[in-house]
Amino acid sequence: MSGEPFYITTAIAYPNGKPHIGHAYEAIAADAIARFRRLQGRDVRFVTGTDEHGLKMVQTARAAGRETLDFADEMSGYFQSMCAKLNISVDAFVRTTEERHTAASVAIWNGMKAKDDLYLDRYEGWYSVRDEAFYEEKELTEGEGGQKLSPQGTPVEWTVEESWFFRLSRYQEPLLKLFAENPDFIKPDSRRNEVIRFVEGGLKDLSVSRTSFDWGVPVPDSPGHVMYVWVDALTTYMTGVGYPQMDGDFARYWPADVHLIGKDIVRFHTVYWPAFLMSADLPLPKQVFGHGFLLARGGEKMSKSLGNVVDPMDLAEQFGVDQLRYFLLREVSFGQDGSYSPEAIVTRCNADLANNFGNLAQRSLSMIAKNCDGKIPAPTKPDPADDVLTATVHDTMASVTTAMEDLAIHTALEAIWSAMTVANGYFADQAPWSVRKTDPERADTILFRTVDAIRALAILAQWVIPDGAARILDLVGQPLDKRGFGDLGVALVPGTDLPAPAGVFPRLELPTDA
Ligand code: MF3
Repeated sequence: MSGEPFYITTAIAYPNGKPHIGHAYEAIAADAIARFRRLQGRDVRFVTGTDEHGLKMVQTARAAGRETLDFADEMSGYFQSMCAKLNISVDAFVRTTEERHTAASVAIWNGMKAKDDLYLDRYEGWYSVRDEAFYEEKELTEGEGGQKLSPQGTPVEWTVEESWFFRLSRYQEPLLKLFAENPDFIKPDSRRNEVIRFVEGGLKDLSVSRTSFDWGVPVPDSPGHVMYVWVDALTTYMTGVGYPQMDGDFARYWPADVHLIGKDIVRFHTVYWPAFLMSADLPLPKQVFGHGFLLARGGEKMSKSLGNVVDPMDLAEQFGVDQLRYFLLREVSFGQDGSYSPEAIVTRCNADLANNFGNLAQRSLSMIAKNCDGKIPAPTKPDPADDVLTATVHDTMASVTTAMEDLAIHTALEAIWSAMTVANGYFADQAPWSVRKTDPERADTILFRTVDAIRALAILAQWVIPDGAARILDLVGQPLDKRGFGDLGVALVPGTDLPAPAGVFPRLELPTDA
């Protein structure tokens, strides 16, 4: 398993504004999974990017009085800074306006064309620019003033134009077979059921080019046509690993192990995308995971008009990057919707980071600094309680691994933090500060076992709180090259000099304007 490739992607956002908390949430979750796999020793490739074509980008730039590419350059830059700020360990960031991506899009197009899956016709139907999606009459509802709305609540307009069509109708049976044979292809199960019902309802051929604007990848040998933005957007997942070059990274990493996306774009990823790939004779991703949305306090949607939108960069600034990452991953059951409030982040981080983890490290390391000459003490006087602690901490790896096989990130974190509670209980029960008065050897042993448990817990927590966990590992003297899951069982070396103890997770205060 070690060294085996693991390829994960996030959806690529439309850079028609700055990143919002939903983008940050998805990037953080994908990053945690990527880091988790790296700690297991997997050869991870993690790709994200920005989705820069399509009418929405043209219209947004125009409204801002900007050239489309110039606007996309600036906005894509904010997404790249967000990744840097939030410690998102991406290996490649793909902008769909890059040349390498045009080559990939043309290649998949030609693959579909060669299978006679593309034909010219006239499109007549409803289109939502906000969703960049076509809808059928029966899917629409009526809004104010008779305005027709998509199932996502966005306005649709009647569109008539010459268009290339993809023979999606041919893929109804192959898709149903794919879902039946691969129960994990669409996760969580609730999304899978929705998709199966949609496909069973019948598939119409899909319009895959546009002629009314030119901001897109030109269709080969078809002047005036640009590809439908989703055709090129989805192809990003292959651009990121070197497609159309079929050897090298593409051969190594494709197909993706998981496409992590929001629940609103599951249909594009589990119906259109596998159909395009089947058509072009390319291997299909192993899994598409549709996560939930982040809502405001009380389960309200965040929206500008309600004034409850939070900026992820502000939150990271205000509470800390690890704190934001931990809160989002621990508080939300991964796959379900979750909610954010300043009280919730402060309460959660103070309990789990400042108290449970931070305090234990601070107290035990301060005692070592004071009583053991700043060196890891020797465990010369064991007690059965010590082994209970060590076993609890080491057994946590198995629970975490099982949870992560299902991407139950919150369950994995619950397991790690409940082992921390056990470590705190051990420290309190063993009370090294009072034992020292009568039995210094036993007190040293307790401190050794405690910091060794902290070492293992910090190794286990690195994928969620990379900065804080690394600082704790520095404080307990764990060498930089011994921080993988494979190093969990190798205990600290008595006599190792430790740096001066320092607090790692400050207590958070509720902002006064909350
Ligand atoms: N830009 C799309 C959205 O924000 C997501 C595209 S993901 C990809 O809804 F599949 F196209 F890559």
